[in-house]
Amino acid sequence: MSDISEVQKLSHSELRKVYEANENVLRFCKEKLGSNATNEQAAIMHAYELQAGSYINKMAEDPDYRAEKEQYGKAIAEIIAAYAPASILEAGVGEATTLAEVVKNLPAAMAQSIYAFDLSWSRVLMARRYFEQKTGRSGGQFFTGELEHIALPDNSFDVVLTSHAVEPNHGREKEILHELYRVTAGHLIMFEPAYELAEPAARERMEYHGYCRGLKDIALAAGWNVVRCELFGVRKDTANPSMILVIEKGQSTKAPAEKHFVSPIGGGALVAHGGHYFNEEEGLVFPVLNGVPYLTRSAALLASHFLES
Ligand SMILES: C[S@@+](CC[C@H](N)C(=O)[O-])C[C@H]1O[C@@H](n2cnc3c(N)ncnc32)[C@H](O)[C@@H]1O
Repeated sequence: MSDISEVQKLSHSELRKVYEANENVLRFCKEKLGSNATNEQAAIMHAYELQAGSYINKMAEDPDYRAEKEQYGKAIAEIIAAYAPASILEAGVGEATTLAEVVKNLPAAMAQSIYAFDLSWSRVLMARRYFEQKTGRSGGQFFTGELEHIALPDNSFDVVLTSHAVEPNHGREKEILHELYRVTAGHLIMFEPAYELAEPAARERMEYHGYCRGLKDIALAAGWNVVRCELFGVRKDTANPSMILVIEKGQSTKAPAEKHFVSPIGGGALVAHGGHYFNEEEGLVFPVLNGVPYLTRSAALLASHFLES
């Protein structure tokens, strides 16, 4: 098994029992699927669906966690503000507990266009609500999507941000980085596990959990302009230290103000119809659930005459 379309083959009720017993869901999936080095995309999807709500609860209940997150978001905002982006995409947004802190600390005139997506629909639903409450901004476009097949056109955003989202995807780093770079117009700014810069014990833990590595080398091998790569000490987690990686794609070109979605399968433009998204060439509908577009390959429904409905 290697594909998101296999998501229904994992039993969510079985995995819920594993989660409720405080066991590691991704580890359980690996053993079940016999995929020792890689966390399958479908397993990540289930694992984060099960965790939906946990980050927001922690922000409310744990003052130390909240204080560190506030510092983390502020430090990221300072870095992003230097590029004065009109548009930002956070890929793998979780529950927007990082994004909200970042946006709160950006000058109000910046980042008028904010997009964010995650593999877990339930987390995206919570992210949208949390983001609006914390920032007072209601125009953000939150959707369900895959890092491996981003449902957006090339060069769409001035800044593309990730915060420990590539993390569980060891084995797919190259395809994910190329996707992130594809949708970036200006700067790709990543905060991800600092595998190469970490102590041996932390590296061993990252290997055990299937965390990403080699991001800088992938960027250099592609000939991209890596302008920053170092430890990011603002996040104090010594078991999983962060690094900042900044890749400059374009210095002065601004992404287009008008954004639209594309099919995560064929890449063609999606049109809004009947409250959902449709690509005529592929005959595929991508549903919108409770206002959240579900733009993963696994969500596609074949309905070629949809425009007649
Ligand atoms: C550790 S959380 C970080 C969330 C958020 N960026 C933050 O800083 O709070 C990682 C998130 O990345 C998402 N994610 C992991 N792999 C993904 C993939 N292949 N495609 C889309 N989202 C993914 C997970 O669903 C999860 O919500």
